[in-house]
Amino acid sequence: MQEKIRIAVDGPAGAGKSTIAKIVSKELGIVYLDTGAMYRAVALKAIEDEIDTKDRTGLAQMVEQINIIIDYLDGEQRIYLNDVDVTNRIRTPEISIGASNVAAAPEVRLKMVDLQRTISKKTNVVMDGRDIGTFVLPDAEFKFFLTASIEERALRRYKEQLAKGICNISLEEVRKDIEYRDKNDSGRDFAPLKKAADAIEIDTTSLSIEEVAQKIISSVKEKLKQ
Ligand code: DC
Repeated sequence: MQEKIRIAVDGPAGAGKSTIAKIVSKELGIVYLDTGAMYRAVALKAIEDEIDTKDRTGLAQMVEQINIIIDYLDGEQRIYLNDVDVTNRIRTPEISIGASNVAAAPEVRLKMVDLQRTISKKTNVVMDGRDIGTFVLPDAEFKFFLTASIEERALRRYKEQLAKGICNISLEEVRKDIEYRDKNDSGRDFAPLKKAADAIEIDTTSLSIEEVAQKIISSVKEKLKQ
C-alpha cells in the first residue's frame, strides 16, 4: 500500500503558504486543500445574509444551513457554496477580514474542520491554514510553519492585489488588515494560529517561493526514503 502523506502548512497571512503548497502538491502529485477558502465562503454567506461576522449565535444558525463543497477543475480548487461556485468572489479585503472573524466561532470551525478531515481521509493532501498541524491533523506526517516579517507579508499581498486589478487599497491599509487578522487569528480561544511543537518553522522573508517549496519537498522526500 502507498504511504499516507498529510502535509500541514500553517502560518499567518502573506507568509506564502498557498503558492508554496500548490507547488508542493504538483511536484508530489497530491491534492492541495486551501482551508482558508472555506472560512471565506462562510464570510461571504454571512455578508450576503447581513449577519454580523462576529455574531456567533447568528453564525451558528447560518452554518447549519449551508453546504460547502470542494472540487477540482483542471487541477485548481473550486469552492461551492450551496451549489454556487464562489471561488472568484471570496478574494476581497472585506471577505479576508470577515473570514478571520467567522473563523473564531467554534460552530463554524467544527463544521469546516470536519470537512477538512473527511477530505484528508480519502486522499494524500497538502493542506494550508492556521490550525492544521495543531488541531485539524495533529498527527500529520509532515508539518511546516511559515513566517515572514509584517513588512514583507504586506508588500506581497499588496502586489497580489495590484496584479488582480484591485487598486483601491493602499499598502498601509493592506498592512493594517494583516495586523488585524494576525491578532484575531492568534488571539482566539478555539484552535488559534499557532506553530505545532513538532512543526518545522521556515522564515520566508528573504527566500524565494521556489526555495521554500524545494525545502519542503526535499524534507518530505528525505523522510519518505527512510
Ligand atoms: O488563508 P486565508 O487568508 O485565505 O484565510 C482567511 C482567514 O480564515 C484567516 O484570516 C483565518 C481563517 N482561517 C482559519 O482560521 N483557519 C484556517 N485553517 C484557515 C483560515
